[in-house]
Amino acid sequence: MSVAGSPAPAPERKVVWITGGGTGMGRSVAVAAAAAGWDVAVSGRRTGPLDETATAAGEHGAATLVLPLDVQDVAAVGAARAAVLERFGRLDGLVLAAGLNAPRRRWDDQDIASVHDVIATNLSAPATVVDAALPDLRRSGGVVVVVSSYAGWAFSPGAGVAYSASKTALGSLVRTLNQQEAPHGVRACHLCPGDVATDFLAMRPQVPDEAARAVMLTPDDIGRTVQFVLDSPPHVRIDELVISPVAQR
Ligand SMILES: NC(=O)c1ccc[n+]([C@@H]2O[C@H](COP(=O)([O-])OP(=O)(O)OC[C@H]3O[C@@H](n4cnc5c(N)ncnc54)[C@H](OP(=O)(O)O)[C@@H]3O)[C@@H](O)[C@H]2O)c1
Repeated sequence: MSVAGSPAPAPERKVVWITGGGTGMGRSVAVAAAAAGWDVAVSGRRTGPLDETATAAGEHGAATLVLPLDVQDVAAVGAARAAVLERFGRLDGLVLAAGLNAPRRRWDDQDIASVHDVIATNLSAPATVVDAALPDLRRSGGVVVVVSSYAGWAFSPGAGVAYSASKTALGSLVRTLNQQEAPHGVRACHLCPGDVATDFLAMRPQVPDEAARAVMLTPDDIGRTVQFVLDSPPHVRIDELVISPVAQR
């Protein structure tokens, strides 16, 4: 846990915790939130990228918290939730961007350990983080943005067995949250992006080249979209959002 160089949080500022906050969409979400006046906690396994995100968010005046952890580690997630509470005293938003896929993703070439790893990261871990943070989100009437995938909204043959199954199940996770937690004002969004030019593409069997990346969404497109959800008024729930590049077929 690190708060190096970050100002003390002001109690009236809203706070968002972003898993997978060191890179890609997670980083853009952190910077967009900071620019919108939120304080930011970021988690992920690698400290270096998390520190870079915290620095970028800090440049917009946000107080930050860096939480290095493996999101599959239930005890570490619980400790991170406690650290967020200790530093900020509140939690208003949760953005679940940590995710995993594997190049060998078909029934005829996958290995089962990798299948379990993808499902643990993409499905079990979001359930773990929501479970840990829910008491705080109930207090704030908070917003959860689950970064799922286009493959969680429409069947996408190339996405793979474990990835498709885990992302599709996130739709149910969001629906149960919305159905059961509405009395506490908690709102959840199943966010389903199409192709986004991030490091994630390196896990594809055929890694897209520069020309292909140039017509994809950018991480900042997702940052702006997530901030729209986070800043929606307390009576507004955005159940599902699909966002894709015009070029996507
Ligand atoms: N790029 C796309 O085209 C696309 C499209 C639709 C949906 N998505 C989804 O969008 C989300 C964000 O991905 P991205 O495109 O922004 O790629 P990314 O930059 O590779 O982000 C993935 C993040 O997840 C973190 N992560 C992975 N496993 C973790 C673990 N066990 N514990 C903690 N953190 C972990 C990584 O950090 P560490 O490695 O440091 O842990 C990394 O910061 C993912 O859920 C992905 O499935 C991506």
